[in-house]
Amino acid sequence: MITTCNHFLIYKHSTSVMKILMVCLGNICRSPLAEGILKHKIKENHLDVVVDSCGFESYHIGCEPDYRSIEVAKSYSIDISNQKARLFDETFFKIYDKILVMDKNNYRMVADRASMPDDLNKVDFIMNVVSPGRDQEIPDPYYGRKQDFVNTFKLLDEATDRIVELIKTKQWQ
Ligand code: 4NP
Repeated sequence: MITTCNHFLIYKHSTSVMKILMVCLGNICRSPLAEGILKHKIKENHLDVVVDSCGFESYHIGCEPDYRSIEVAKSYSIDISNQKARLFDETFFKIYDKILVMDKNNYRMVADRASMPDDLNKVDFIMNVVSPGRDQEIPDPYYGRKQDFVNTFKLLDEATDRIVELIKTKQWQ
């Protein structure tokens, strides 16, 4: 089934399918990489999971990911060039099961929009799948160099490996 939400198409699968949302500020550097890497691994592992991303910076709405994110993903044979930046919407609390943020700023912006404890329970730092409770941040690479994007990829690669393991072992369901 397809429904519209805040000008964007949202593909609604059956309620049993896990839906994961990756969140950063611009939705052009980190969260598109997180979405692309996890989608790639979900497909490789023949899992049925929905993965999306969004941000909070309206300047980039509708734009493709930053070319440096596209390039680093491409170097690992992952194509993220078809993604389009979009904004976080409060309705996403009802759609997604896990809302994974990159840094403290993202966490605060998502948490500020939570209207009930169930909403907030869905939100966590993505790196907490690797080091629970540490609240490790994925630094914003936007004003950085190519190596910063490579480092972003490596952190997200580690986190998404763990997410796949959590799903496969039914620790996430
Ligand atoms: P992202 O990086 O949050 O990882 O997508 C950023 C991209 C753009 C901006 C900030 C962060 N910006 O301010 O335009």
